[in-house]
Amino acid sequence: MAKAVVVLSSNEGVSGTVHFTQEGDGPTTVIGNITGLKPGLHGFHVHALGDTTNGCMSTGPHYNPAGKEHGAPEDEVRHAGDLGNITVGDDGSATFTIIDNQIPLCGPNSIVGRAVVVHADPDDLGRGGHELSKSTGNAGGRIACGVIGLQGNI
Ligand code: CU
Ligand code: ZN
Repeated sequence: MAKAVVVLSSNEGVSGTVHFTQEGDGPTTVIGNITGLKPGLHGFHVHALGDTTNGCMSTGPHYNPAGKEHGAPEDEVRHAGDLGNITVGDDGSATFTIIDNQIPLCGPNSIVGRAVVVHADPDDLGRGGHELSKSTGNAGGRIACGVIGLQGNI
């Protein structure tokens, strides 16, 4: 079992942790707990770079080893990093579980050392008709992020 974790940081009062686990070559399970967000949907992605020297801006574009267009997690055409939206309740917190096949923790397409980014706005999943829909989902600013690091086995 491979395990990884992200501690999110933010200039806008958002905090949280996201845990990743993967059994063998199976899907990766993502379990997150995030607070300090405005209620509603927020784009949630793996970005290509684990570089936070300029905050979330330096984490690069969505992780996209297959060179595809932006999409929804369930789409054939999507970036590997496209994990869709998280849903934030009226208390400003989100607890969620995502199971995904395109974000392994080992091998050539590993997401370890890359970044998780939470956005200010909903991800339109490539369907919004905006000029950014096919690249970013037009999800607005990057309000929290952190670098995915390997976690030891218990
Ligand atoms: Cu993003
Ligand atoms: Zn994308």
